[in-house]
Amino acid sequence: MERFKSNLLSTKKTFSSALASISTLQELTALEATFLEKNGLIAQLLQEFKALSPENKRSCGTEFNAFREEIRTAIDAKKNALLLSPVNNRIQSRPIDVTAYKSEPKGSLHPETLAIQELENILITMGFQLAEGPELEQEWYNFDALNIPATHPARDMQDTFWVPQPHHLLRTHTSSVQIRAMQQQRPPLAISAIGRVYRCEATDACHDYMFLQCEGLVIDKNISLANLFATIKTLLQKLFHNNTLQIRVRPSYFPFVEPGVEIDLTCPFCSSGCPTCKRSRWIEICGAGLVHPNVLRAANINPQEWSGFAFGFGLTRLIMLKYGIDDIRHLHSAKIEFLQQF
Ligand code: PHE
Repeated sequence: MERFKSNLLSTKKTFSSALASISTLQELTALEATFLEKNGLIAQLLQEFKALSPENKRSCGTEFNAFREEIRTAIDAKKNALLLSPVNNRIQSRPIDVTAYKSEPKGSLHPETLAIQELENILITMGFQLAEGPELEQEWYNFDALNIPATHPARDMQDTFWVPQPHHLLRTHTSSVQIRAMQQQRPPLAISAIGRVYRCEATDACHDYMFLQCEGLVIDKNISLANLFATIKTLLQKLFHNNTLQIRVRPSYFPFVEPGVEIDLTCPFCSSGCPTCKRSRWIEICGAGLVHPNVLRAANINPQEWSGFAFGFGLTRLIMLKYGIDDIRHLHSAKIEFLQQF
């Protein structure tokens, strides 16, 4: 019994010093074999244990069993530590820089989308129905039906992208939608169309060959200029969230309206002149007027019975004013740094 006890003690010491010196998995496997294999040190101790009297067995059994368990757990723990150490070493030699991972880039709506959504909401609350027309348009809708015959000098007012198909073009204004709407719907009607228009122009900070326009058309009985002015004023006040804004009207010429006017708005950005209004305190907004009888006739509407007003403005220009965008080309540059600002 004393011999067993001292053997147990020395085996324990051998094990713990052997375990401490181990640094590879191969060494650990060898250690495991030395202690736990069939003829290993533990098996030898077990033989000795079996030879003890039942009384002695009882006095040493607990300690012996605990040691056997201890060996198993210690070897398993060492194995895990050795398996993990290459990973830990790698992390320590190349620490992870958590600041290097920025959060996922966030999307945002394009300023044109934001403006279109807002404007559409305003138009709908004012009673307009949203209308649409094709961007690749027929000459008749873009010009003839709008009282601009082929020989009319007004065709030169808008440099046109003609396409190889005869009598087809990229629409130069959203006024073409007026005719389409009147063909689809009998008066009274109030429609608005927002969309892209194209003009064959050299581009610079203020001009692009494609931009957004917003068109309005109201046909009813006894429509007058007063209806037009009130509508435009309300629309602009809502758009700029400022109901003190005023409009002024200058006579102008568009073949599809008579009389034709241009409407200016008091500068929404200053009260005494700023770079945006070129220190004039007024900003030119839109062309407008009472629908020309020839236009009504082209859409089979009797001008004796019905009258109407129409207006059209460059939405892209308003977006640039509203967001302080100094170059129209930014809008379609697909530059993330630009788009992230909205
Ligand atoms: N279509 C005109 C333009 O593009 C604007 C306009 C629309 C003028 C409706 C009068 C009436 O310049």
